[in-house]
Amino acid sequence: MKIIDGKKISNDVLDEIKIVVDERIKNRKKVPHLAAVLVGDDGPSETYVKSKIRACERVGFNSSLFKFDMDISQDELLKEIIKINENQDIDGFIVQLPLPSNIEQEKILTQISPNKDVDGFHPYNYGKMTLGIDTFLPATPAGIVELIKRYKIELSGKKCLVIGRSQIVGLPISILLGQNKSYANATVTVAHSQTKHLDLLCASSNIIISAIGIPNFLKSSMVSDKTVIIDVGISRIEDSTSPRGYKIVGDVDIEDFRDRDIMITPVPGGVGPMTIAMLLQNTLKACQLND
Ligand code: GUN
Repeated sequence: MKIIDGKKISNDVLDEIKIVVDERIKNRKKVPHLAAVLVGDDGPSETYVKSKIRACERVGFNSSLFKFDMDISQDELLKEIIKINENQDIDGFIVQLPLPSNIEQEKILTQISPNKDVDGFHPYNYGKMTLGIDTFLPATPAGIVELIKRYKIELSGKKCLVIGRSQIVGLPISILLGQNKSYANATVTVAHSQTKHLDLLCASSNIIISAIGIPNFLKSSMVSDKTVIIDVGISRIEDSTSPRGYKIVGDVDIEDFRDRDIMITPVPGGVGPMTIAMLLQNTLKACQLND
């Protein structure tokens, strides 16, 4: 098995961003500023947001965290979003998902100004992405595409299976990889909870992108040789040997693939760090659009 090293590639991308930021500072241009909105105290969400802020520090961006209690109302949150939209110093921001169940995600995401929507979740940007018009691409799919490009994985005419149809990963990556451009042009199938004979689909695919959040779901017996496997799952499972009491695993039972002739993204250290790098790339783009 060959590892697709997302940690390394994400570090390369962050280094490239830092060079641009240093140059902007030298030329007295604005320092990019990313803000994150976090509602409630969901453990994984807090961890992701912290990692995003740490990455901002690494490349020299400014960052802000807007943290709200679990019981903030939808109207109050909408008002806070408007304030961030109007804050001239913030180039881009994200609302960390999931939101508490009393808040309608769609209402919040559509309130974000499209030119600050560095997650690419606003319908305006999602529509542009779908039509192949340059815009902010959702960070996780963009990170997958970047790994495919930097490892020069040829997808043209290949059979690509996307497992999961979420708005954040499954749906956008299935759109991007089917588009008529380089490092895409794949024949894409989207599998979901109602899909029948998933095992047959897996066995006949050249690339499998799994984004369902079921720990160790994909086994070696399900895939053919030479398959490229992109594991987007991030689940916490109990681990008494870890000081935290849990460990992070993906959708793919990677140990089961040890002796197989396949390429694979590990969890952690695969798609996760790429998501953060692409979010920062989008923030730099938002800042540059304001120059
Ligand atoms: N929750 C899980 N992934 C993401 C992401 O890429 N962006 C946001 N805002 N929330 C998430």
